[in-house]
Amino acid sequence: MTMPTMQEALKLFEQTLKQRCEQSSRFEFGIAKNFRIHSAMVAVCAEMIASRLPEIDGQKAYIMGLFHDYGKLTYDYERSDKFHGLEGYKALNKLGYDELARICLTHTFYEQELNIKEYASYNPSEMRKCRKLIQEVPFDDYDRLIQLCDRLSIGVNYNLKERMKYLQNAYKIPTVQLKKKYREALKLKSYFDAKCGCDIYKLLGVN
Ligand SMILES: [Fe+2]
Repeated sequence: MTMPTMQEALKLFEQTLKQRCEQSSRFEFGIAKNFRIHSAMVAVCAEMIASRLPEIDGQKAYIMGLFHDYGKLTYDYERSDKFHGLEGYKALNKLGYDELARICLTHTFYEQELNIKEYASYNPSEMRKCRKLIQEVPFDDYDRLIQLCDRLSIGVNYNLKERMKYLQNAYKIPTVQLKKKYREALKLKSYFDAKCGCDIYKLLGVN
């Protein structure tokens, strides 16, 4: 199990973001700012929830949040049917950061037996690979925490409902699937509400 230090993590994140911007002006001017905001908001959310949970390391949770979408920095994801989670998994494993690699892979899913049909915009053979990989690693609380924080973060705010609306528009998710995603996200929130002994929305300052 290898994790970068905070200093190493921030350096790697900035370097890779810079490289991506140098490769694509479309990314630099159209996506980079929102990518940075989203990654940082997920990181802060994870650290704030972790502050209530002695069994979760806050710094590790922050770094995991920051890197959950790292795969999007490694290729032109908007013009590809590759799955960014798998690309991040491969890239971070190559660097020896297996715990971060795992988060890239698990953050999108909410069940070990993922239904490939629900991820129709991605290459099916990639999704079969993901299913096989995630079946080998039962989700732990770090996986669940980043899954929740990713679903909470919308711009500079946190709100599950607003994030779902955004995902529906951005990825054209059918309503039935979206409702399922929302139900699963609420279950994750309830899980952490109970663990923290408070409403996560209060902790995050959601009105
Ligand atoms: Fe994300």
